Amino acid sequence: MHTVRRITMVLGAALLIAVLIPCRPAAAATLYDQLGQKPGITKVLVDMVGFIVDDGRIAHYFAHADVPHLEGELVDQVCYVTGGPCTYTGKSMAAAHQGMHITEADFNALVEDLEKSMNKNEVPIPLQNRLIGLLAPLLGPVTYK
Ligand code: HEM
Repeated sequence: MHTVRRITMVLGAALLIAVLIPCRPAAAATLYDQLGQKPGITKVLVDMVGFIVDDGRIAHYFAHADVPHLEGELVDQVCYVTGGPCTYTGKSMAAAHQGMHITEADFNALVEDLEKSMNKNEVPIPLQNRLIGLLAPLLGPVTYK
């Protein structure tokens, strides 16, 4: 009798779990997902670099840049900071910009080029703000080095 009751309870619990699991809310999408994963992020960053090299305020910094390499590093970095399955293996921000004497105005110009690219790629404003919010703390490591 005891055994029968225990089996009934176990079966009941299993049934309850089987019913509840599909009701569990899906895991929240990361910013990486919302930006369209690697293809979406790549489009935004390649277009951003396109705007930068055409931007009279900061283009001179990139006169001798290895653009494909830079694009690759940027994609890995943004993929990583937005919660995507990437690892950034490039230089630290301080090391990458050492000796460039980048100013706050230069930094803001780059952010404007990023905004221009996100608008072109129809990234919704709340997502734009989240990405800019993740990059803003890099102002210190990137500037006045
Ligand atoms: C949020 C701001 C920024 C981020 C996330 C960023 C990110 C990066 C990354 C990932 C690299 C490549 C590092 C490597 O090769 O290992 C890089 C290089 C570089 N960055 Fe930035 N950067 C930022 C701001 C700026 C600004 C404001 C300027 C100038 C106006 C600038 C100019 C450069 C230049 C000239 C290089 C070297 C490119 C080359 O020679 O291939 N960066 N940056």
